[in-house]
Amino acid sequence: YRSIRVGLLGAGSVGSQVARLLLEHADELAQRVGAPIELVGIAVRDTSAKRDADLPAELLTTDAETLIHGSDIVIELMGGLEPARTLVLAAIASGADVVTGNKALLATHGPELFAAAQQVGAQLSYEAAVGGAIPIIRPLRDSLAGDRIDRILGIVNGTTNFILDRMDQTGASLEAALATATELGYAEADPTADIGGYDAAQKAAILASLAFHTSVPVDAVHREGITGVSAEQVESAKRAGYVVKLLAICERLIDDETGDEGVSARVYPALVPRSHPLAAVHGANNAVFVEAAAAGPLMFYGAGAGGVQTASAVLGDLVAIARRHVIGGPGTAESTHAELPVLDIGRITTRY
Ligand code: HSE
Repeated sequence: YRSIRVGLLGAGSVGSQVARLLLEHADELAQRVGAPIELVGIAVRDTSAKRDADLPAELLTTDAETLIHGSDIVIELMGGLEPARTLVLAAIASGADVVTGNKALLATHGPELFAAAQQVGAQLSYEAAVGGAIPIIRPLRDSLAGDRIDRILGIVNGTTNFILDRMDQTGASLEAALATATELGYAEADPTADIGGYDAAQKAAILASLAFHTSVPVDAVHREGITGVSAEQVESAKRAGYVVKLLAICERLIDDETGDEGVSARVYPALVPRSHPLAAVHGANNAVFVEAAAAGPLMFYGAGAGGVQTASAVLGDLVAIARRHVIGGPGTAESTHAELPVLDIGRITTRY
């Protein structure tokens, strides 16, 4: 097979890790896909900026349009609404499939982008947009597509979970816990999107749209951040057997007055009973608790942020799409090739 050409837009903390992993694991990925994956270029604003990973200078370009036209798959990790929206639409129009981790873009322009992709039969994947490394988008879209999801309770912002967990564990004030989060590199220089609940609201819009097969714009998400949470409130919640968590709650509801069925998405600091699995989500981790009619409760847990962790989700989308470009390749059947032999030993020591 000819190689599959990948154009990367953005080389921030996630983008630079995606590029590094693509280059370092090229052979393994080629074997898994059935064709070489070739990173043809990385579009950035400033080719001389400092990056988290050492990237070959010859791949860097400021000309995103030309890169898009030479790519079979475009990975958009620039963040923000523009020029990301224009470039994703250009990629779709040029016949490329798209992988994005841009939650703001999807929560704001999702319907427009999905319609454009559908019109030309392009793939648009976004596992990295919610919950970082955690597989949650594909489970909701594919694995649970035959079930009815009634409710999702998500801890979808790592920074605020770190802060609330620290307040809970040490009795720290919000300000002190935020200072620690900043020191440890969890919180951004401007933490407004995290502590104001904006980041979680974007993720709630994406989860609710997927779970309920509808379109929930981010403006329709009720949003309250954690700025009003005091050390005293956390302490009295603790005494009563609860922990304060910033939850994204997406529900199928019936309006008491009208009897109309609809959906609701909201983000606010909620009291979670200590016995609930979400109460055990510590530090900057994320978790999404899904209540489905037939499947019952399910929980998806792991690292909700971080460059290399989130890059894992991006590469998963990339491999899934690339496999579809290779008719009859290894992606069309389970284990059609053996990379590693099965060891013939009857006794192993398993370490946990
Ligand atoms: N600022 C986000 C968080 C990064 O803290 O979870 C991942 O979207």
